[in-house]
Amino acid sequence: MKEFNVGIVGATGMVGQRFATILENHPWFHVKVLAASPRSAGKKYKDAVGAKWAMDKPIPASMADMIVKDATADIEEIAKSVDFVFCAVDMKKDEIKALEEAYAKAECPVISNNSANRHTPDVPMIIPELNAEHARIIPAQRRRLGTKRGFIAVKSNCSLQSYVPALFPLSEFGVREVLVCTYQAISGAGKTFETFPEILDNVIPFIGGEEEKSEQEPLKIWGKIEGDQIVPAKSPAFTAQCLRVPVSNGHMGAVFVRFENKPSKEQILDIWKNFSGRAQELQLPSAPKQFLHYFEEENLPQTKLQRDLEGGMAISIGRLREDTQYDYKFVCLSHNTLRGAAGGAVLMAELLAAEGYLD
Ligand SMILES: NC(=O)c1ccc[n+]([C@@H]2O[C@H](COP(=O)([O-])OP(=O)(O)OC[C@H]3O[C@@H](n4cnc5c(N)ncnc54)[C@H](OP(=O)(O)O)[C@@H]3O)[C@@H](O)[C@H]2O)c1
Repeated sequence: MKEFNVGIVGATGMVGQRFATILENHPWFHVKVLAASPRSAGKKYKDAVGAKWAMDKPIPASMADMIVKDATADIEEIAKSVDFVFCAVDMKKDEIKALEEAYAKAECPVISNNSANRHTPDVPMIIPELNAEHARIIPAQRRRLGTKRGFIAVKSNCSLQSYVPALFPLSEFGVREVLVCTYQAISGAGKTFETFPEILDNVIPFIGGEEEKSEQEPLKIWGKIEGDQIVPAKSPAFTAQCLRVPVSNGHMGAVFVRFENKPSKEQILDIWKNFSGRAQELQLPSAPKQFLHYFEEENLPQTKLQRDLEGGMAISIGRLREDTQYDYKFVCLSHNTLRGAAGGAVLMAELLAAEGYLD
């Protein structure tokens, strides 16, 4: 497989740090550039990150002394020195859109964790096991941007990374209505217990913008390419409540689902057990061997016990049972900064590399 030089834009942030640690020994991708805001630019990475470093592992030695670039002022220079960038920045939506488009127009593909372009009709939002074929929209996006190589591809929100992978493989039964409550970790807000002491012994029933994302983004995953755009599906209908809970990493979902044609419990379990997607077919380096793990024990999955399953890239499911109001209910879990953020973006980049979109 070809190897690629990559940049991390937003390298000092929570997701950026996660990119740094998981790319440290990546077989295909080699980090050559780290970029962040003007506050960090010009400093060594280890100094720019300083006490904000929140990963279990130390700062990768190969990156600690790299001088951080200015993510906006140095776009041309960054675009020339890498094959593509991962992007996870905390800026206003219109600024992020402009930033991502500027990289793409400088012929530097952008693999983004930001929400700004998730609903841009020709920007694919890919979970490699589910809708890998949405990458086929990239030539249309390149035509719009007037680029040869440059394009933007985005990762969906971390909240839906547990329940969409569980429900999407059941599409043949017509997934009609879904009610989900999510129990989300504080790293999703870029926080640790040190920086977010008010979450201890507490649950906060509001995460800005999260419920809308949890309800709308799945429809793009279920969507279809029509002409020059991905047209979101009209169903399933989702309703969501998203709660912040005192957990460091791992988003859990409690799901209720109604089908057009109700499957048996055995049919559902069989589909989950045997499900694999393009990521497994291509044997991508970050792909879990088994994407969906079902636990028979009635007290599993638990956030602390299962979030790191298969390097934090697998989805854990349990407690599937019939419901009195809906057809079934179950619980599911994914690691929000691995599968839900940086790991999911790296897997998407591996897919796009293997399919030739990053050549
Ligand atoms: N955390 C998750 O689980 C998660 C999941 C999915 C998506 N996301 C998305 O990923 C993005 C980053 O999240 P995060 O939790 O990593 O945020 P964060 O910890 O606050 O980090 C923000 C990053 O953005 C940089 N930045 C801020 N203002 C900038 C500017 N004007 N120009 C260039 N860079 C700037 C920061 O650089 P400085 O250090 O120099 O200020 C830092 O590197 C957000 O869009 C978020 O919605 C996060």
